[in-house]
Amino acid sequence: MSRPRVLSGIQPTGSGKHLGNYLGAVRHWAAMQDENECFFFLADLHALTVTPEPAELRTRTRATTAELLAMGVDPARSALFAQSHVPEHAELAWVLGCLTGFGEASRMTQFKDKGGGNVGLFTYPVLQAADILLYQPQSVPVGEDQRQHLELTRDLAQRFNSRYGHTFTVPAPYVQRAAERIKDLADPDAKMSTSRGGPGTLWVVDEPKALTKKIKSAVTDTGREVVYDVAAKPGISNLLTILSVATGKGVEELEAAYDGKGYGDFKADVAEAVVELFAPIRERYAALIADPGHLDDVLADGAARAREVAATTMATVRDRIGLLPPRAG
Ligand code: TRP
Repeated sequence: MSRPRVLSGIQPTGSGKHLGNYLGAVRHWAAMQDENECFFFLADLHALTVTPEPAELRTRTRATTAELLAMGVDPARSALFAQSHVPEHAELAWVLGCLTGFGEASRMTQFKDKGGGNVGLFTYPVLQAADILLYQPQSVPVGEDQRQHLELTRDLAQRFNSRYGHTFTVPAPYVQRAAERIKDLADPDAKMSTSRGGPGTLWVVDEPKALTKKIKSAVTDTGREVVYDVAAKPGISNLLTILSVATGKGVEELEAAYDGKGYGDFKADVAEAVVELFAPIRERYAALIADPGHLDDVLADGAARAREVAATTMATVRDRIGLLPPRAG
């Protein structure tokens, strides 16, 4: 029996991947590889919507590849590739764009929140739908902020299927649990994010010293009790979440363990747990980033595997929608 297929992507922009990316997404990707046939990719075409410096984009694409491998994506079991290496993504995006209503695209909150921008940003969710549908995945592990994009993807799949005959698997979202949404340490009401950076972001390749310093300076409230209460104690609650996910211990168990102890002891333990969690990642990253040839090999192999699937889907799509096939030979 074939394994269920899973697909997900991540942008190669910003200064790297952080604790939120790891706990909320990539850790799950790594864990899914045994039971599922996985396709993971660097969304470099999506990254163009923020017009990065060319040299920077190239560097970040390799660096993100190394980070994903360091965090446990295993190229022996999963296809890891760059979106731009599989031209079918852009091709299917055009086709799906012709099935997307202007008003429908205008309702996407991410575009509205950014207050407009280029046409690429406007059609971003359509490219994302193409990324997904090409691989016929049963499920797509994403963060809560991607839920609306997944809804559009499902709508487009159903619309295409009913107009042209069954072509696409309608994928199910696999949204991470709320408890794993990591907040910024310096501003615990906002989520930890790449664009924010700064003293509240824990990068997976941070040195132990930097991690410890950021965690010890994390914003807390004036109380003394280590208890989980997002409204009254967002900072402490965030640190409890981090410690819980890093150690596998339940929040209640941790609350009991810190009963009567102060924030200082608690923060020191959170720092130790995160340092321990990231140490092997940092070590693997250092080795990987020193060998760009190997990273390029991994991406080439991943793209070859991805293209086999993508090209098959795209051939069916071209036929269904009535594009004249080019004369053979
Ligand atoms: N939009 C996603 C994000 O910012 C990245 C992405 C692009 C993606 N294409 C995808 C995620 C396809 C899942 C599936 O996180």
